Amino acid sequence: MRRALCPGTFDPVTSGHLDIIERSASLFDEVVVAVGLSPDKGGGPLFSVDERVGFITSAVKHLTNVVVRPFDTLLVEFAQMNDAHVIIKGLRAVTDFEREFQMAQLNYRLDADIETMFIMSIPEYAYLSSSAVKEIARHGGSVRGLVPDAVCEALAARLNQSH
Ligand code: PNS
Repeated sequence: MRRALCPGTFDPVTSGHLDIIERSASLFDEVVVAVGLSPDKGGGPLFSVDERVGFITSAVKHLTNVVVRPFDTLLVEFAQMNDAHVIIKGLRAVTDFEREFQMAQLNYRLDADIETMFIMSIPEYAYLSSSAVKEIARHGGSVRGLVPDAVCEALAARLNQSH
């Protein structure tokens, strides 16, 4: 069984993430989407880890070999616990490279049996990010098509609440 991890903060999941998850699912027997708690990232996530897991679970319902799980450990430990030997990350524009390169090197140093592989984002999503989505939504712009519809509604509800 070839099992891969697709890790991220997914705050919230975007169409770009879902494209990478879908392509990973066609390459591996099983894909575990690993949702990091990431409490320190950018002042703390907008959505709780349960909400983030829920959005992805609904969006990948049609993919029978994908499961979604939260994690709050080192990524390589979570990979070991799930018997996954591959970590898949999406790569967008060049700006992603430095951070991803650092994480891949550190993860390799922590466990050389776990390989990091990169899938290039399609041009349509090359500049899409969770933070850009939140910024657009915060200013009342439409993010329809950039995230699942349920996330659109949740963003509107969450961001209106905080006004
Ligand atoms: O969505 P992101 O920001 O690319 O996701 C980052 C994530 C959650 C994959 C990363 O922060 C992570 O692996 N966190 C777990 C802690 C860890 O293992 N850190 C060492 C790798 S540098």
